[in-house]
Amino acid sequence: MSGENAAVHVPIMPQKVAHYLDLRRGGDFLDSTFGGGGHSRYFLENFPDIRLFAVDRDPEAKGRAAALKQLFGERFHFFCTTFSQIGALSLPFLRGIFFDFGVSSLQLDDPSRGFSFRYHTKLDMRMDPTRGIPAREFLETASRWQLEEAIRDCGEERRWRKIVDLILENRGSGALQYADSFAALIAENLPAKFYKKIHPATQTFQGLRIAINGELEEIRGALPRAFDLLAAGGRLVALSFHSLEDRIVKRFFNEKSGKTVDRHEKYSDRPRVATILTKRPEVPDSGEIFTNHRCRSAKLRALEKF
Ligand SMILES: C[S@@+](CC[C@H](N)C(=O)[O-])C[C@H]1O[C@@H](n2cnc3c(N)ncnc32)[C@H](O)[C@@H]1O
Repeated sequence: MSGENAAVHVPIMPQKVAHYLDLRRGGDFLDSTFGGGGHSRYFLENFPDIRLFAVDRDPEAKGRAAALKQLFGERFHFFCTTFSQIGALSLPFLRGIFFDFGVSSLQLDDPSRGFSFRYHTKLDMRMDPTRGIPAREFLETASRWQLEEAIRDCGEERRWRKIVDLILENRGSGALQYADSFAALIAENLPAKFYKKIHPATQTFQGLRIAINGELEEIRGALPRAFDLLAAGGRLVALSFHSLEDRIVKRFFNEKSGKTVDRHEKYSDRPRVATILTKRPEVPDSGEIFTNHRCRSAKLRALEKF
């Protein structure tokens, strides 16, 4: 996901998210990806009968959460942790849980976070900079296999072989240390004609970010825990931004609704414990895409537990 606005993170499809969570019922809800607090604020302002719990792994979200706490007091509670850990929080059974995957514009557009190749900044990309290793260290030390997994599997970059070779050849040269120098290395070595609409480093940067943050494992770990936390009639609503995220959500929803998880599975005897509310994923309308370009690839899926 890319952000055009440096100061805020504009919430995507907030009305549709609120509709699928059915916030009008009131009660306890969880925003698993607080970010800039855009969705949380929208929920709290428009639905006075809800109490909202919120989670984000980024320590910088704490300040923004404190500002909402000032406004909404006991109606709002924030936890700085990963969403795969929500089972360990003492939360009540919930009427709805929301996920808005990926990074926020606030993270992407802050040069000091080292996410974007638009800046001359140390390549970092960690959503929680207090844990794990920065992307530059990963590039310098990961095995060929780990690099392939990041760039081929998480980045879905067709020219992954060439890029992995480039990384291995350029270790120790300084080129892997900075976001702009790493992007330039890729652009200089891969013909621009293959990348008509995007910068040649776009997919590689996406893959690196997903790998550094263990994003797909986080989603795989979080969905079953979230489902367990839902009360009967509770709803799970997820916004995905690329096919890898969306596939995990879709498979999980199919599994819970007793369907085959994908076209390779011929038959399912899993019990049906939920119903899918979005036969096709909801997407932003053209007006929203016009005003907030970064939402263009968003897909919303919703599930209701029996
Ligand atoms: C797209 S932003 C959410 C934006 C938010 N809905 C808003 O309106 O401001 C995603 C946020 O989720 C957080 N995040 C991503 N993966 C996470 C995880 N596994 N655990 C906790 N937070 C995560 C990121 O740090 C980021 O702040």
